[in-house]
Amino acid sequence: MSVVITVGSQWGDEGKGKIIDYLSEQADIVVRHQGGNNAGHTIRVEGVQHIFHIIPSGILHPEKVCIVGNGVVIDPAVILQEIDSLLSHNISVEPDRLKISGQAHVIMPYHKLLDSLEEERTGGRLGTTRRGIGPAYQDKAARIGIRLWDLIDPDIFRKKLRYTLEQKNRLITGVYGSQALQEENIIEEYRAYADRLRPFVCNTAEFLEISLARQKRILCEGNQGTLLDVDHGTYPYVTSTCTIAAGAATGAAIPPWRIDRILGIAKAFQTRVGEGPFPTELTGEIGNRLRNAGPVGEFGSTTGRPRRCGWLDLVLLRYAVRVGGINALAITKLDAVGEMDPIRVCVAYDSPDGEQRTFDGNANRFDKITPRYVSFPSWKRDISTVRRFEDLPQEAANYVRFIEEETGVPAVIVSVGPERGETICREDLFSR
Ligand code: IMP
Repeated sequence: MSVVITVGSQWGDEGKGKIIDYLSEQADIVVRHQGGNNAGHTIRVEGVQHIFHIIPSGILHPEKVCIVGNGVVIDPAVILQEIDSLLSHNISVEPDRLKISGQAHVIMPYHKLLDSLEEERTGGRLGTTRRGIGPAYQDKAARIGIRLWDLIDPDIFRKKLRYTLEQKNRLITGVYGSQALQEENIIEEYRAYADRLRPFVCNTAEFLEISLARQKRILCEGNQGTLLDVDHGTYPYVTSTCTIAAGAATGAAIPPWRIDRILGIAKAFQTRVGEGPFPTELTGEIGNRLRNAGPVGEFGSTTGRPRRCGWLDLVLLRYAVRVGGINALAITKLDAVGEMDPIRVCVAYDSPDGEQRTFDGNANRFDKITPRYVSFPSWKRDISTVRRFEDLPQEAANYVRFIEEETGVPAVIVSVGPERGETICREDLFSR
């Protein structure tokens, strides 16, 4: 087994950071392949909290190589802050440990500005993170983006920036009535970024090709979640990228046939930040209790926004499994959901067309459905010290088994707390 891909199987924030950190121990190389600093992984190791937005959290493990692939969009200021923060914790960040694809696109000041201006104009229509993610991918597709190869070449950078900025300033001033950005200011700021990033920029596709030939164990870390996928998610309330496992093939140049396991990470309940449909959402007291259950509450690690909370939705989880080829599950925050009694799970939707057991990709129809629930008694016990599935309280094991039966996928990892060690692992994903 050499390539394992983790994917969020809900709307992001499934607790992927911790699972990825846990699996990184067994990998040689950890790869990030899409998105940008809209993502946020919070990892707690020995009481110290690390938040990652771009660099794979595998960097916390000495000896691992971390790749930021061509499919990622990079805000240079943010990745440099991350490097500095790691260095301040005495974690080595050298070019032999961190490799950034020259083909990755750069988030420019006008991307962030336009993201915010559009959200303001529409009263927060999508509830984006305002990090410039959508506008950066728009430019990539429009073939006016600036890649890291361009950033680190001063002449090419100036030429490309001039061409694009002229167009963006017309939009910023003419459509939004805001102030034009100054070319020289951007050049000065981004030249400093280029000088620091240059040693890390390389051909990551070739590095991965060689590593695969050498049978290295590669872990691709998914960001956001299946329901935020630009094609398969609850469109238009999605991000701008392919968030399912297939995204690793294009976003990091990993041949699809090399992918061995696709680990879908699912929280034991459901959360969402930003706008968009959420059939099992709980807006009252129970939602508040879910938000605050467990040692770490449900607040976005990127924007700090309180997450919307609701019961686990198996209709959507079955869909994530099917559309993304998920063949193993990691269930997170089992400890937290155990604070609720009873625990409810949505097993189907009742709709004018009858019972719906999976999502058809048409988010317009959500206002016509009613979730159907089953209830589970809680175990109401601290399970954070349990390390073997057999030692879980009967009620907790039943809850996990029910998810397995309903999705047809084994839950190979169960997370019982935020710390790296608070994990039940039932199978070694890299060696099966
Ligand atoms: P964008 O990715 O900033 O364009 O935001 C688009 C939508 O995706 C918004 O609803 C965001 O809240 C959501 N989103 C983006 N990244 C994440 C993430 O890492 N976790 C959860 N939601 C996210």
